[in-house]
Amino acid sequence: MQVLTTPAEVRAARGRWPVLGFVPTMGYLHAGHISLVERARAECGAVIASIFVNPTQFGPNEDLDRYPRDPEGDLARLAAAGADLVFLPTPEIIYPPGFSASIELGEVTRRLEGAVRPHHFAGVATVVTKLFNIVQPTRAYFGQKDAQQCVVIRKLVRDLDLPVEIVVGDTVREADGLALSSRNSYLTPDQRAEAPVLYRALSAARTAFAAGERDADALRRLVRTVLGEGLAPATDYVSVADPRTLEELTTLTDGALVSLAVRFGATRLIDNVLLTA
Ligand code: PAF
Repeated sequence: MQVLTTPAEVRAARGRWPVLGFVPTMGYLHAGHISLVERARAECGAVIASIFVNPTQFGPNEDLDRYPRDPEGDLARLAAAGADLVFLPTPEIIYPPGFSASIELGEVTRRLEGAVRPHHFAGVATVVTKLFNIVQPTRAYFGQKDAQQCVVIRKLVRDLDLPVEIVVGDTVREADGLALSSRNSYLTPDQRAEAPVLYRALSAARTAFAAGERDADALRRLVRTVLGEGLAPATDYVSVADPRTLEELTTLTDGALVSLAVRFGATRLIDNVLLTA
């Protein structure tokens, strides 16, 4: 596995593979990331991952400084998963002096996470565009856990005609249902014990949908009931939305994305399930 730090090195190495899968990450890799690397390898034959904690997608009071980092462990995990290349740029490489571009994708970036994190998706869209331009992958792999990010990146690719196919991998969960996330490492033991309620709440919505419930408010109420009154003040949103536009639904005529964001102390966790008819 080759570790590269500049766009020129990536471009020089990239030419070796006609089909290349790309897994962009912010590091502190867990089994969810690794499942994407393995899928990329199986589907493309060769895979490049990037590790870059992107400052522009963090708000001023967010966790950029304490975001967990483990570059050596990450490189060992990527090598074991069969990555061919790793791009590990510094902030100065991605954002040289004078950098000022920002990609705005409109309404879809202002809903859900965007309502709480106003500049987050401009930061994601801008860095992902830069990474796509540097890596020029055939396919890029993202996790369904960040459902809105997947919607935004699909729109980015559509709106700008970027020549890359987006592949979304299933959310990987702990045995008790908690979705894997680098931020789970912030949870205290008590918060960790409480956190699986997120998936229990989402699973209740899925069961109700399977039993025929099509009223979106009934599903939102059910999710909030399972979360319980104790978490109500810490719940940023419970959404039942169109999975393509993220517009809130009244009645589920087709599929839906049920998603939520809940704060456990200073740690904000998100999760979702897709309901398909
Ligand atoms: O999902 C992430 O880890 C990040 O948002 C991404 C896509 C690597 C962009 O910084």
